[in-house]
Amino acid sequence: MTNNEKPQFNQWYETNNETDQLVRQATANQGEQHDELSLRPQFLREYIGQEPLKEELSVYISAAKQREEALDHVLLFGPPGLGKTTLAMIIANEMSVNIKTTSGPAIEKPGDLVALLNELEPGDILFIDEIHRLPTNVEEIMYSAMEDYFVDIMVGQGPTARAVHFPLPPFTLIGATTRPGMLSKPLRDRFGIISGMAYYTTNELKEIVVRSSDIFKAPIKSEGAYEVALRSRGTPRIANRLLKRVRDFAQVQGKSAIDRQIVDIALDKLRVDNRGLDDTDHKLLDTMIEYYQGGPVGLNTIAANIGEESETLESMVEPYLLQIGFLQRTPRGRVVTEAAYNHLGVPYQKEIQ
Ligand SMILES: Nc1ncnc2c1ncn2[C@@H]1O[C@H](COP(=O)(O)OP(=O)(O)OP(=O)(O)O)[C@@H](O)[C@H]1O
Ligand SMILES: [Mg+2]
Repeated sequence: MTNNEKPQFNQWYETNNETDQLVRQATANQGEQHDELSLRPQFLREYIGQEPLKEELSVYISAAKQREEALDHVLLFGPPGLGKTTLAMIIANEMSVNIKTTSGPAIEKPGDLVALLNELEPGDILFIDEIHRLPTNVEEIMYSAMEDYFVDIMVGQGPTARAVHFPLPPFTLIGATTRPGMLSKPLRDRFGIISGMAYYTTNELKEIVVRSSDIFKAPIKSEGAYEVALRSRGTPRIANRLLKRVRDFAQVQGKSAIDRQIVDIALDKLRVDNRGLDDTDHKLLDTMIEYYQGGPVGLNTIAANIGEESETLESMVEPYLLQIGFLQRTPRGRVVTEAAYNHLGVPYQKEIQ
């Protein structure tokens, strides 16, 4: 479609520069730092771990490229820092298309979304982070955009208001969320590819640590890398963050390579224990044990006790504790497991239930 045939959305959308702003806002919100950018793998072959997901995606990408079509819409969900944003960028690189990045809360009204979609070239990707936070009225016009590449929206106000039909270029929506349960069913159903990201194994994280230390030109010994991996909560972002701090310690102590000993010293100082638990995890488990005999206790009660939002506990703290089997969810609330008692060195006196 040539530009002449394309309805000129921006002619009557009052705030012409708004899309730039939307994209900028989202980028600023992510607090992207230079380091994080340079550590991001660019292509699937550099992306470590998530093997089943990578295999699946590479099939869909090749097939879409062969057919010269836009890739089907992709929903990526999973805890923070596992590589959702990175994967979205990789998909764009692999498809050789542009990607525009924004986030759910940055798109305040239907016009914002149409302005973004209107700027896409055929096959381009719109990446919406925190897609569970899209306002409802925006979500509703997303349905036809995703399914049939058009939107019908009301423009103007009062007596001059009228409905306008906008055809859109075929595009790919990539949505990312840490809270898939908060996505409405109609929206979820419109994604052709829905993928959950799993926590990384220690060996995968070790590979990521070694790769990052190569990029930083900070040599690391194998046991040092393994120890960083062990303490990274299955999460590449944490692995990279811990590596940076360990590198500082090694540098100040004049070490030519990061070894196990310097990792132990640095991470003990950072109060990250040998299973990756930090102060918040300890506070949560200690409170449950001390005041609730290890549970069952409701998440809201725990949150109120330790002064955290229950949403933060549910999406950022609890998933890892569940994953390593330190917490269990029961219909009556959360329960601390025997493994967690052992890890904390507290005698386990629960009756077998
Ligand atoms: N598979 C991987 N291989 C190597 N590095 C990775 C991988 N996944 C993530 N990373 C690194 O971890 C960092 C965090 O990843 P990313 O920002 O993509 O996470 P996210 O899932 O989008 O997190 P959030 O939910 O907080 O937005 C990236 O900068 C990247 O360097
Ligand atoms: Mg992200």
